[in-house]
Amino acid sequence: MKKTTHQHSLEQLVSLCKRRGFVFPSSEIYSGLTAVYDFGPYGVELLNNIKAYWWKSMTQLRDDIIGLDSAIFMSPKVWEASGHVKNFSDPLTECKKCHTRLRLDSLLEEAGITADEKMSEEEINQIFTDNKEKIKCPVCGAQDLTPGKKFNLLVHSNLGNFTSDWTKDPTYLRGETCQGIYVNFKNVLDSTRMKIPFGIAQIGKAFRNEITARQFIFRTREFEQMEMQYFVKPGDDHQYYEEWKKIRWQFYLDLGISPDNLRWFKHQNLAFYAQEAYDIEYRFPFGFKEVEGLHARGDYDLTQHSKFSGQDLSYLDPLTNQKFIPHVVETSAGAGRIFLAVLNEAYQEEELEKGSRLVLKLNPQLAPIKIAVFPLLRNKPELVKKAREVYDLLKLNWRCEFDDNGNIGKRYRRQDEIGTPYCVTIDFDSLEKACVTVRHRDTMKQEIIEIVKLLDFFSKKNLK
Ligand code: GAP
Repeated sequence: MKKTTHQHSLEQLVSLCKRRGFVFPSSEIYSGLTAVYDFGPYGVELLNNIKAYWWKSMTQLRDDIIGLDSAIFMSPKVWEASGHVKNFSDPLTECKKCHTRLRLDSLLEEAGITADEKMSEEEINQIFTDNKEKIKCPVCGAQDLTPGKKFNLLVHSNLGNFTSDWTKDPTYLRGETCQGIYVNFKNVLDSTRMKIPFGIAQIGKAFRNEITARQFIFRTREFEQMEMQYFVKPGDDHQYYEEWKKIRWQFYLDLGISPDNLRWFKHQNLAFYAQEAYDIEYRFPFGFKEVEGLHARGDYDLTQHSKFSGQDLSYLDPLTNQKFIPHVVETSAGAGRIFLAVLNEAYQEEELEKGSRLVLKLNPQLAPIKIAVFPLLRNKPELVKKAREVYDLLKLNWRCEFDDNGNIGKRYRRQDEIGTPYCVTIDFDSLEKACVTVRHRDTMKQEIIEIVKLLDFFSKKNLK
């Protein structure tokens, strides 16, 4: 058997996602909505499994982290205090001829000039000035673009504002989930027995008015973050920062991502809130790009919210009686980006003795469907009845799918393409001997298992 890994393009992933119901463009029947996507029937299962894996590793398996689900809408003061209203921006350029608006760092990158979102706006404008003759408007071709100016990424809404000029006084859709954690810090302290060092974890939607929409679900205007804020004693930041770097790196290996496709990126230009920042980058078909950021945020956020709200957000150490504003080590991952990395990693085309197959070699814990159950023939009621019985038995424990459509070969191919680790076939022997054929996705090997032993067999496979 010949295996080819990472020989595929982003277009092939996009096509699989559409064809097999992982990801669809949002509002597609109306020609879509730029940079917004919907997760289809298998996509939502995979996404939920990724989020559940993160949630379990960050909360259930740790005594020092608890969860939270704060609202998407927050007081507009939150975003003033956090600095987002003033500082959360990307460099926007405009074509003087056709007035198309574009993100300057992306435009430079596309022209083969080293520039990316991690550079400061001044640096990007300098690079633009030095290379002006190489940069054209991708829409009309004019070489007449304005220098980059700051474009704020917060998405505005009229929530609770019933006036016609609400744009002057908007309520924002949150630009990052962690602000909901900071503003609940005191509530959590007062309602739990958590002692520093401890963390608060949250999974939720965030919204950014991204100027350039590219690379499928990599950069979207609505996306999900999985963030954890770890509150530590001032001075202990670096020690915990190093600890969290190890833990978060291991998370990606546990998901099944090859270390060859991961690397660290150390930020030289820090975001306005960060004292130390590294990204974990994954090798996507379009190159190494960030999937998660780790930030030492110091006491920036709690201090800002104390100042703006007038509330005391300090912590009283019960052992030393010391009072201080805790420092924060943040881990911030994008669920959609991990989804894309996991799909890319799993996608393989294999040459077989007869033909080839496309298979998603997903970590079984992430697979949307764990077990597919087939009656050998759909027109034999006794086979269908037995297969239904097996399906009903297994589905109480695992996400299963019943499939009697097409020949067995086609059913295997369909399940391979969505990454189902096991297929169970009920044939005439099953009726006689009360056994089934279990086919393994990765090796395509088959084995006969007695029906009474199936629950035990799959319980040992670490499917959840
Ligand atoms: N609270 C810190 C924070 O939000 P960030 O580096 O701006 O930091 C963290 O974002 C993660 O959120 C990124 O590593 C990425 O996975 C995800 N993310 C950010 N912007 C995104 C977008 N437009 N589309 C999809 N995911 C995004």
